[in-house]
Amino acid sequence: MFNKFLNLFKKEEEERPSALTDYSTMLVDFHNHVLPGIDDGSKSMEDSMTMLRNFEALGLKKVIASPHSMADGYINSNEKILQLREEVRLEIKKNNINLEFDAAAEYYMDELFMEKLERKDLLTIGNNYVLMELSYLSKPNNTGEVIYKMQISGYRLILAHPERYPYYYEDSFANYKNFKDRGVFFQINLGSLVGKYGAQAKYTAEKMIDENMVEFVSSDLHTVPQFQMLRDCLKSKHLEKILSSDILRNKTLV
Ligand SMILES: [Fe+2]
Repeated sequence: MFNKFLNLFKKEEEERPSALTDYSTMLVDFHNHVLPGIDDGSKSMEDSMTMLRNFEALGLKKVIASPHSMADGYINSNEKILQLREEVRLEIKKNNINLEFDAAAEYYMDELFMEKLERKDLLTIGNNYVLMELSYLSKPNNTGEVIYKMQISGYRLILAHPERYPYYYEDSFANYKNFKDRGVFFQINLGSLVGKYGAQAKYTAEKMIDENMVEFVSSDLHTVPQFQMLRDCLKSKHLEKILSSDILRNKTLV
């Protein structure tokens, strides 16, 4: 009887909606594709402004764009990214959007990335953080070497959306724990918490939050319609949990 009562109480607690109304406690979104015409994200300056106005309305104070950098498709030089950053900053002023804006990159771990790492030519976020993503299809076998090279070069590695790599799902978190033991920071995608990338990614992202493995969250936003997903995500209890966690480092990027 008592257990039944406890279960009922637990169920109600689980079903209570999150108290979040916006992203003002997150402060900074640093993984998104709002720079216009440079990757598979924003197609025009007009779209970029709509995106930034939406970020402002959701309570964010700073947006750092992270266009793709990959040998196979998006060879975006630092100069090109920084030039576009200046153009967006001018438009932000003209449009009276109250947001701080910066740009870095989302580096795909390939030969272009390795070259840039050798030359210490990577665009960084905050205190020397570098955002890097892996293949979605095949498990890379050189992550250990890359982590080591990053560390001796003074970079701090943020692994983009670790919950989205299916080849890491079936080892009871051993690979993820190995990353954490080596000092890798994790950034999960907000959309994962509402199932945008499937049930496994949702489960993995939530478990990472429960196990205190997540230091960063971001939108990975590509298009204007995806803002609905960000509004839906405000109902997530796990989002509420991570945004009130002391471990979260988004605020250090202001
Ligand atoms: Fe991305």
